[in-house]
Amino acid sequence: MGEATLAALAADAASCTACRLSESRTTVVFGTGGTSSGLLVVGEGPGREEDLRGEPFVGRSGQLLDRLIAEELGLTRASFYIANVVKCRPPGNRDPAPDEIVACSRYLDGQLDLVDPRVVVSLGNVATRVLLGTDEGISSLRGRTHPWRGRTLVPTFHPAYALRGGGAVVAQMRADLVRAKQALVAPR
Ligand code: URA
Repeated sequence: MGEATLAALAADAASCTACRLSESRTTVVFGTGGTSSGLLVVGEGPGREEDLRGEPFVGRSGQLLDRLIAEELGLTRASFYIANVVKCRPPGNRDPAPDEIVACSRYLDGQLDLVDPRVVVSLGNVATRVLLGTDEGISSLRGRTHPWRGRTLVPTFHPAYALRGGGAVVAQMRADLVRAKQALVAPR
């Protein structure tokens, strides 16, 4: 798989100054995980803990996400890849700006090429809108699979929203992850 070249792209990102987010970041949060499962999960951008530790989804929302993926797909971080639309933390956890998303897009595009996932799960409005190129909201885009660049895209809620929204949102996330599992095991 493309793990050697992923490391090279990560090394490249580590010194990136293509947008203003580079000025306030502590660490570039490139992405982590294995490529063997065919699953790539895409979030929005690093939060405070991720900025400090250099790894995506290590805070409370990441713990919920890991639990749901383990329970519904039987996968751990060692076998799926996880990354964000922008690799540096937007100050105060604001949404990434359109020019920041464009400046960072070569890294996510590179990860998609190198991981070459069968299924992409996008978390929340920002990631889903960027990948699908739409202004539609996550509530109307989730709940189904989308054929996308020769792969299957499965939009779902962001786990931070599920932490606030409680059991009903978690149940909808679980249902979306079951859709991802079905797409991963479907005969080609
Ligand atoms: N939220 C995200 O979208 N990404 C992270 O890495 C952490 C929280």
